[in-house]
Amino acid sequence: MPSLRLHNLALVTAAGPERGPLTSWEALGFLPDADLVLTRDAAGTWRTTWLGPADSGDRPSADRTLDCGGRLVVPGLCDSHTHAVFAGDRAVEFNQRLAGRSYADIAASGGGINHTVAATRRASLEELVTSAASRLSEMCAWGVRVVEVKTGYGLDVATEVRSLQAIAELRRRFAGRLRIVATAMPGHAIPPEFKGDPQGYVTVVCDTILPAMAACGVPVQFLDTFIERGYFDTAAAQRMAAIARGFGWGVKAHVDEFADIGGLAWAVDHRATSVEHLLCTGAEGIARLAASDTVAVCLPLTSVFLREPLAPMRELVDAGARVAVATDCNPGSAMTTNLLLAMQMAVLMGRLTPQEALRGVTRNAALALGEPGGWRGRVAVGEPFEATAFALGRPDELFYRLGLPPCVWTPLNEAISPALAG
Ligand code: NIG
Ligand code: FE
Repeated sequence: MPSLRLHNLALVTAAGPERGPLTSWEALGFLPDADLVLTRDAAGTWRTTWLGPADSGDRPSADRTLDCGGRLVVPGLCDSHTHAVFAGDRAVEFNQRLAGRSYADIAASGGGINHTVAATRRASLEELVTSAASRLSEMCAWGVRVVEVKTGYGLDVATEVRSLQAIAELRRRFAGRLRIVATAMPGHAIPPEFKGDPQGYVTVVCDTILPAMAACGVPVQFLDTFIERGYFDTAAAQRMAAIARGFGWGVKAHVDEFADIGGLAWAVDHRATSVEHLLCTGAEGIARLAASDTVAVCLPLTSVFLREPLAPMRELVDAGARVAVATDCNPGSAMTTNLLLAMQMAVLMGRLTPQEALRGVTRNAALALGEPGGWRGRVAVGEPFEATAFALGRPDELFYRLGLPPCVWTPLNEAISPALAG
């Protein structure tokens, strides 16, 4: 079996605890001068077979050695929450919000998500793929190796299925560079043709849209629902989740973004893999998450973009919840692909430590995606190896250098390509 030694690198394994405060790089598995031996298995997956300090005497030999020149290597970054497949933009609404109009007001007058739905319904498959591919390329430049992509700007059978087909084509185009987890989100908004009849729309989602998505030949991993005043309530989420569970999909939910209407409690009670946003989550929700395995996915750039308060990230970590950090890349509330900036804002505005933020885009992001393909978001012996190398010498530079330009060192990814399957 082919083997590869990675030599002369500063490694953060992220193989520490998933919960609780972290205050040192050692607690997140920092080895300032590390050596790694990888082996490619019969299925083509590179696995870590040995890791340790460079001066240990028991390192096995390998066919090839890659000198990493002292660069920083971390588990491949994972953006665990994006809405990257959509057409058009909402710059006009952005400017209206800057002038004082609220997101809810814009949505109520026919803009918001439904503005993007109209553009996405008009777009061809090729147009959806091309625009999403440029966003995914930007993500790669930030060091992202695993990304979740939601549908949810179609809200009818044809366009939700076309959005999944776009994800399938993106999986082909980014093979070896990005692993893409697909989330079905027809429960993103009530489309205009069902205005005033949310139950009617949920019936169509359950009877027609979700079955068509499951049957279209594109593997889907999760269902997500926007549980929010004016969107979907927990009863609607329950109806859709029951169908999704029947297909073997996991369940996620957008909750507590603007108002707490019971979404978090419902999601935790129904063993959701993750809950996302959490801007107005209070003490009770924090305690529920701390006592569960459901991952709290925090999206600090959405708060900045909407001028809303941040999720209680510090309190969630202190209470013992599993906390992940993601971009929320979408045209309305977070027009960004920059996961490094999300990490930095989680620290500077959300008061996470750098170690907790890095854990939020590696180990805990993998948990938020159900450890796709057996990848666990950390560097550990026996596990699939997926990593990003930065042209930096120390992990704190990922945070200290605000607005860090892309500095991914690609020879590492080339050496382990094609590690990633779809
Ligand atoms: O995650 N909250 C719902 N969905 C998106 C916003 C989508 C949009 O405005 O287009 C979000 O913030
Ligand atoms: Fe979102």
